[in-house]
Amino acid sequence: MEKDFAIAILAAGMGIRMKSRRAKVLHQAGGRTLIESVAATAAELAPAKQIHVVVGHQADEVRQALSGFGVGFITQREQRGTGHAVLVGREVLEKGARRLLILYGDTPLVEAESLAALVAQQVRSGAAATVLTTRIDNPDGYGRIVRDGAGELRAIVEHKDATPEQLAITEINSGIYCFQTAPLFEALAGLRPENRAGEYYLTDVIAGLAARGLPVDTFLIQDASQVLGINTRVELAQVDALLRARKARDLMLSGVTIERPETVTVDAGVEVGTDTVLEAFVQLRGRTRIGSGCRIRSHSIVSDSTLDEEVTVEPFSWINESVVERGARIGPYARLRTANHIEAGAQIGNFVELKKTRLGARSKAMHLAYLGDATIGSQVNIGAGTITCNYDGAGKHPTRIEDGAFVGSNSTLVAPLRIGEGAYLAAGSVLTEDVPPGSLGIARGRQSNKPGWAARRNKRAAEEKTKEPVAR
Ligand code: UD1
Ligand code: CA
Repeated sequence: MEKDFAIAILAAGMGIRMKSRRAKVLHQAGGRTLIESVAATAAELAPAKQIHVVVGHQADEVRQALSGFGVGFITQREQRGTGHAVLVGREVLEKGARRLLILYGDTPLVEAESLAALVAQQVRSGAAATVLTTRIDNPDGYGRIVRDGAGELRAIVEHKDATPEQLAITEINSGIYCFQTAPLFEALAGLRPENRAGEYYLTDVIAGLAARGLPVDTFLIQDASQVLGINTRVELAQVDALLRARKARDLMLSGVTIERPETVTVDAGVEVGTDTVLEAFVQLRGRTRIGSGCRIRSHSIVSDSTLDEEVTVEPFSWINESVVERGARIGPYARLRTANHIEAGAQIGNFVELKKTRLGARSKAMHLAYLGDATIGSQVNIGAGTITCNYDGAGKHPTRIEDGAFVGSNSTLVAPLRIGEGAYLAAGSVLTEDVPPGSLGIARGRQSNKPGWAARRNKRAAEEKTKEPVAR
């Protein structure tokens, strides 16, 4: 395809209709910011050095969001309209390439193939401008495509400035265009902010070029959803739903089973291996990678974590910033708070919380436990109700439990502490000292039974009662 083109992405506006402190393009849909989605699509078409993002409102944050892309930035200090946004980049954009593909940062659903087809048509037709359009039933808010009697594109009229007849037009401007760079900048230089918004409209360039007798045309795409622009949070939610559906579809086509796909939330950057099953209402977020043959059961949330193959996550579990090795089982109702490493075949059961803990191969913590700052060897059994007391109010302290140890139920491990290999801890112990390998650690009051005590108590109680004066 045509190589000699640059891309400008307009992302300087603040997005008043979002009613937010945050710039519109920094809002998220599909698990990443709008501007990241647009930049990712642009990156499919052109090398990063040919991509320029116009920033203004919260420019530093937008630059930050795109730091991984290597794209260039143009600053539009005052946001005086989409035409002005392109004009401020004149120096960089004009000498860059013969053609300029313009995208808006608030239109993240457009696919690279559609853009490539737009550019290809512009190259073929030799038009000074080719506008990506579509037809929609409710064109409210969009610029309308105005044609003459012969059906030729004559102008784009903004909703605010349209006559009642123009408002009835259902073909709309997507905000995506491919221009020949030289005539674009000539036309931009002649723009006047003579409209209801008092802005320099990029869309007015079309009428300007047409008036000079230069050819302008349109490229209509059938799939209107690709050009859904986001101005409000209602549209943000619609776009989010479409991006989620796309991601789920991609995963299913790559061999992942998803039950009730309309209920799952999988972020753009997540990878899932073949034959993994995602049950209803699962959320996979951030930089999560899941291997093949796993089962993630209903209502579990996995964020920024890596799960190897054949891992089972039972319902209602939350795994965050952790690594889970092959064949491990987590949950139901487990919480892996942060920085945990679960080795192969280990099991974590209901109401168990882990933080900065390594659980060795085939070890088990099946019920009601808190394990924090702990390093636990292989084939260790952590009894129900075990608590690592890792925090003394001032600092955090480590607990080390070596291979094959058996931690009896309701043990309280006051860190720092080391439980040696193969040691046993008696249930209900409060341990404040290390337990050597192979030993039994008991740390609780010794039980004494008093035979016949109950009968003696009952007799005494009956005697007390007869002595009591009658209440009146
Ligand atoms: C724009 C189009 C409209 C089209 C619609 C498609 C114009 C005048 N109108 O309207 O025809 O149907 O998109 O979604 O272009 N921006 C800047 N600097 C500015 C102003 C805006 O960078 O000074 C950026 C914004 O950050 C945004 C994009 O340009 O990403 C579009 O701006 P917006 O105000 O949302 O335009 P619309 O009113 O939606
Ligand atoms: Ca918009």
